This record gives sequence, C-alpha cells and structure tokens, in this order.
Amino acid sequence: MPLVRDIAKERFRSAALLPDSALSFAESYDFQELASFIPSEVLEVSQGSGLPLGLKDVRAGEAVLEIGCGAGINCFEAARQVGAEGKVVGVELIDDLVSIARRNGPQVTNHLGLPASAVEFKKGVAEDLPLEHEQFDSVIANYQLGACQDKSAIFEEIFRVLRPGGRFTVSDIVSDVSVPRYIKTNEEQWGYCLAGALGVEEYLKIIRKAGFFGIEQLKFNVWKQIDGIHFYSVTIRGYKLKKPDIQKSPASSYAVFRGPFAKVKDEYGNTYQRGQCKKISKEIFEILNLPGYRPYFILSAEAVDAVAIESQLITYKSEQERETWSGDYAVLASLFLMGEDDEHHTFYAGEPLEISEKTKDILSGEYYAKFFTLLNRVSPKHD
Ligand SMILES: C[S@@+](CC[C@H](N)C(=O)[O-])C[C@H]1O[C@@H](n2cnc3c(N)ncnc32)[C@H](O)[C@@H]1O
Repeated sequence: MPLVRDIAKERFRSAALLPDSALSFAESYDFQELASFIPSEVLEVSQGSGLPLGLKDVRAGEAVLEIGCGAGINCFEAARQVGAEGKVVGVELIDDLVSIARRNGPQVTNHLGLPASAVEFKKGVAEDLPLEHEQFDSVIANYQLGACQDKSAIFEEIFRVLRPGGRFTVSDIVSDVSVPRYIKTNEEQWGYCLAGALGVEEYLKIIRKAGFFGIEQLKFNVWKQIDGIHFYSVTIRGYKLKKPDIQKSPASSYAVFRGPFAKVKDEYGNTYQRGQCKKISKEIFEILNLPGYRPYFILSAEAVDAVAIESQLITYKSEQERETWSGDYAVLASLFLMGEDDEHHTFYAGEPLEISEKTKDILSGEYYAKFFTLLNRVSPKHD
C-alpha cells in the first residue's frame, strides 16, 4: 500500500502545477500587491490558500518557519514582515517546489533590500524537520497537515524547534468524531487530506501532549459532511511556555475568572468559578497570562474583593424562553478542558454536545463564540 504521504505528494504536485479548487480553502491574498515583489513563477504555482492567520501577528525581527511552504509565497510575505533583523525558513516535501522557491528567493530578498540569507528553503518533512532545536518564534502551516498521519510527531517537532515563548498557528482538517477506517482508507476519493484527519478531541489532546498551552481555535469552516461526519478546516494557535522567570514572577498571585462560563478548568485541570478569587502558583500565572486567557482573568498580587470586581464579570443569557432542538452540536475548542454555562451544560474539550437553539443562541453570541465550533448534524434533504 502506498504511503499516504506519497499519495499526498502526487496530489500536491499536480495541484501545484495546475491549481485545483478542491485543495483551496481560500481567504484571498491581494495578488496584485504580491506581484510587486514576488515573481510570477511563484505566484502561478501557489495554492491560493490565502494569507495564513499566523502571519497576521508576526513582528519585525522574529524568526518564522513555514511547514509545507510550497513555492514559498507565504515565506516571501513573512520575510517582508520580519525585515532585516528577522529570518524565515520554509520546509517543503516536493523537490520541484523547493527548486522554484530557491530559484526565486534572491530576486525577492533583493527587491525587499534584505540579505539573501533572510529566507531559506529546505527539502524535508513535517514529521522530521531538518532543523536545530529552539530556532523560531512562530511556526505556521496552512492546510497540509491533513495529509500527514503522524500528527504527534508533527507537533513534537514544532515544539522542539520553537523557542520558549514561541507560538504555532496551524490550519488543518479535523472531524467532529473519529473517522472510521472505510473513509480513511478510501484513498481514491479522500486520500490526500482525509486519511490523516483526526477527530477534534484526539487532535487537541495530541497538541497538549506535545507540551503546548493556551491552545485556541482562531477560525473554523465546515468543509464537507461525509456519512454524517463533519470535516472542517480549523486554524489553531498554541504556545510553548517560557520557563517562569523566578526574579520577575510573583511568589504567588491571585486569579479571578471573569466568565462567560460559570465554571471552567484550565489546561492544568484547575477549576475556577466565575467571580471567586483563587490563589495560584507561578506556573499557573504563566498560563493565565498568555494572550488567549488574559481577557478572561483578573490577575493580581493581592487577594481581590469579590464586590470590587463584580462589574468586570461577564455573564450572557439568551432572550429565548423555549428549548427547541434542531440537530445543533457544540464542541469546546479553545483554552479550557471543561466549561460549564449558566444553564448547567458541561462541555469537555473536543467532545460534541447536543445543544438546543436557545443554547446555540448563547454560544454563538459575542462572549462565547471564540470557544466553540458549532455544527449541525441534520442531513441535507434529498428529493
Ligand atoms: C496546500 S499546500 C500549501 C502551499 C503553500 N503554503 C501555499 O500556501 O501556497 C501544502 C504544501 O504542503 C506540502 N506538504 C504536504 N505534506 C507535507 C509534509 N509531511 N512535510 C512537508 N511538506 C508537506 C505539500 O507538498 C504542499 O506544497
């Protein structure tokens, strides 16, 4: 049986040489703008996956790695953003694409006024990156991981090459429940990206097991429903924590959870009730101080008086009175291992829970939306 990676390689190779809309999940780039500094040979073979979300928070001077960089379009855009003090590396499986990227690199760096060494392309695979430890501030990948079966190896590799404090932003295809073998092994029909697709619960566990914290779903988009299973693209960010700085971190501090949940469990399994002041260790302080968690906690060196912070708490209720059930499901996908709403629904990370229209109204509202993937399992009507 051919390796999934080989099948993917063939698919990606033909797609790269003749762009295939089935591989595109586009959020579009301004190609006219890119053409001002990226040669047409690169733009023509690019997959049109769009500006990766991971490039939206890249800062000048950072070191960025793109896994599955194709002909280098995102690496060139990253080079423009990180500038002369930064560094960009692209890793790609297919030789032809690495050659195109390398051939065009000097023209791009020259145009941007950067040294030729600012962007480098390496032939290699995500599961075994040809790179030294702790080199990067940000690792990005858009839509290639679906083809890889060993996701644990990929996230362990990402963890290894990130510097402490670094982050990854990866887009991938996941499913709401585990994918049965009869779908996984149908290479002809789905092989190039579904063979490696994991149920979201397992996916999140793999990322956490690799050592990441502050794991957040930045975006999701339902792609296909096959035999009742939802396959959706998801963009996830996570952080490799810095070692707590003994000098600067407070010996102990206090945290108050603001909501919108009534009760949550953080990624270490500590429970917080909305509005209650809890003493926390340095390690927990490091997590709750990550950008994802920060807006939901009041962190303080002193114990906080519950009345004084009442106005900062977030609660959200629906106007709807009636419970109607229409096939909606919610999956907790960001930050917390567990969250309980004010109506006593308990959500566990990655586990779909059936919800009423009233709960859907609450979870799709301003405060909750970023925590959930919302899916509807009703099959389309057939005439
Ligand atoms: C959807 S394309 C995206 C290419 C490029 N990032 C872009 O936006 O145009 C995914 C790329 O990942 C590469 N790829 C797939 N599996 C890989 C693996 N295991 N290791 C490294 N690259 C891989 C493919 O060859 C392909 O070029």
